[in-house]
Amino acid sequence: MVSTRIYTIRSVAIAICVVVLLTPGFAVARAPLQVASPDGAIEITINDEAGRATYAVSFHGETVVAPSHLGLLFKDQHGFDRNLKISNASPASHDETWEQPWGERRFVHDNYNEIQVEFVATKGPVRKLTVRFRAFNDGIGFRYEVPKQKGLKTVDIIDELTEFALTSQSTVWSIPTRGWNRYEYLYRTTDIGEVEDAHTPMTLKTPSGVHMSIHEAALVNYSGMSLIQFRPGRFKADLSPWSGGVLVKTKTPFVTPWRTIQISEDAKGLLNSDLILNLNEPNKLGDVSWVETGKYIGIWWAMHIRDRSWGSDTIHGATTQETKRYIDFAAKYGFIGVLVEGWNIGWDGDWFNHGDLFKFTESYPDFDLPALGAYAQEKGVRLIGHHETSGDVTNYENQLADALDLYESVGVRAVKTGYVADGRGIERIDENGVKKYEWHDGQFMVDHHLRVVKEAAKRKIAVNPHEPIKDTGLRRTYPNWISREGARGQEYNAWGQPPNSPEHTAILPYTRMLSGPMDFTPGIFDLEPNKRPPLREDMPRGDPVSRVQTTLAKQLALYVVLYSPIQMAADLPENYENNLEAFQFILDVPTDWEDSIALSGEVGDHVVFARKDRNSDDWYVGAVTDEEARRLSVPLRFLDEGRAYVAQIYRDGANADWKTRPYEMVIEEQAVTSDTILELPLAPGGGAAVRLLPADKSDG
Ligand code: NOJ
Ligand code: CA
Repeated sequence: MVSTRIYTIRSVAIAICVVVLLTPGFAVARAPLQVASPDGAIEITINDEAGRATYAVSFHGETVVAPSHLGLLFKDQHGFDRNLKISNASPASHDETWEQPWGERRFVHDNYNEIQVEFVATKGPVRKLTVRFRAFNDGIGFRYEVPKQKGLKTVDIIDELTEFALTSQSTVWSIPTRGWNRYEYLYRTTDIGEVEDAHTPMTLKTPSGVHMSIHEAALVNYSGMSLIQFRPGRFKADLSPWSGGVLVKTKTPFVTPWRTIQISEDAKGLLNSDLILNLNEPNKLGDVSWVETGKYIGIWWAMHIRDRSWGSDTIHGATTQETKRYIDFAAKYGFIGVLVEGWNIGWDGDWFNHGDLFKFTESYPDFDLPALGAYAQEKGVRLIGHHETSGDVTNYENQLADALDLYESVGVRAVKTGYVADGRGIERIDENGVKKYEWHDGQFMVDHHLRVVKEAAKRKIAVNPHEPIKDTGLRRTYPNWISREGARGQEYNAWGQPPNSPEHTAILPYTRMLSGPMDFTPGIFDLEPNKRPPLREDMPRGDPVSRVQTTLAKQLALYVVLYSPIQMAADLPENYENNLEAFQFILDVPTDWEDSIALSGEVGDHVVFARKDRNSDDWYVGAVTDEEARRLSVPLRFLDEGRAYVAQIYRDGANADWKTRPYEMVIEEQAVTSDTILELPLAPGGGAAVRLLPADKSDG
């Protein structure tokens, strides 16, 4: 309590200091400048010492980012690196609550103090650069704003000098950059000194227990930023280059994406942060009531476990008959959609290396798209489209409008896209007809994804890219950008060597998921599919080492823990019909939330979320652990006070263990109130999924 007061007083003092300096009449602002978060805990200090633009960040008085350089370098033109001086600054504050059309919470509080700092060059041509800093209670954001100015029109950025000087001896959770597998790596838990390069979000814990995550928001007209460590503890922005070597092609005036640092005194604080969304522009699409959230099934896992094939052979998955079977199942259990992969020409043969063969308007003869679109709609279900490009983006863009028109005409409201190709394997045919290879996170793909999202929006279609550009919160601006992959998902448990580790889903919430929803595709009930006899002799199963390294209860918990407004029930229909009791949780759990609260957790160890349904009074709790068994005590304080609830609990049994007894699950009911502390025993690789419904509304 005492410390909170002290910080509040200090924040007022800082605010005053900035205001005095910047009162009209003080044309020239004097460095250093400061801006503090509304609660005073976070302070940003901006300086121009020795002609370099720098910023530093403290949290409750502790330096969490030491003075770090800022700047931009341009090809063949003067940029912003040295000989810079603060020439002007203007403060602002903002306090607003806005509503999400769908999301992890309906209302988002956007509250920050801002300072817009203008730097001028003291040598060379007249140059102006604005850096806008925002201090929120949950972190900071800043971006470069390069105004129109004499002699600076077309700009090729060849370096962004942004640094993050971080605390040594911190522990870091990260994945490597510029690899063949894009964002699909197992997370590394290392000492900060061992991180050569990292994608963002990169999450760390300082020796004093402060949790931070570095990322970016509103990645538009720019290339993706990753980080390289070039001196101990000192990280630098590393922008993904175009094939020709330039990092970003742009023209003045332009703004960069926001560089973001989420900061919290504990791990769960990162999960309760809305900073990335708050740094994005409001919805630009107007009425988006046509964007459908919900659960879906698909002709998908069958291919990954080699029951079916994408190509048009004897076990082709995407047949009219098989799709009808899935539509019937979806209708029977209330799923909103059926994803069908392998329906279009191009899958036969080596599709991984031949994206140019894909035809997005021609189905295989055994797949009657219009008839199935109609059949689905008669049953209150929709087909979910699929466009695998194998990274041949020019081939896809050439067909994009027609492909989306076709899907629109058969009632499709969501399309999953795919960019299976090695890193730097995106094919682009340039204006001279020459083939170029691009990175998945370079500016070309940043632009491409937005082009697809906008084209799709014109047809009331939502987009869910796999092998995507990372999420930077653009779902706020384009709410039809419904979900994406961008990390190792469930598919790795079918064929990954190694498959996802038990700790993977206890790291994802604190890393990848800080950027936004993920189409992880939970809900596998047959945890060792490679132990099944093969359906065809020439199609052997994968290595049994590839399996789901979780308990069954943890598969259910993932629906609450890993947020996505569209969630797949990824397993085969027959595996669900064989275990209807467990399936009931998947049928009940919503995908659109009134509110979400991370209750407890440690990065890589465990996490507990409570979420309230947007369309009823029900709450849900999901908890997952890593390879360690643990007992979690979860206070239900978020429930309405004085109201009786029934907890429907799906938890690991006493002897459950992902390795030996993954199916041992207890389903039980318990009467609870907001005073109850729910005890959840989690097995190694285990989890718990709980539905809490008001007693007056429960059936029992
Ligand atoms: C990789 C995607 O992540 C997966 O979901 C999809 O089935 C395959 N590509 C084929 O498109
Ligand atoms: Ca993938």
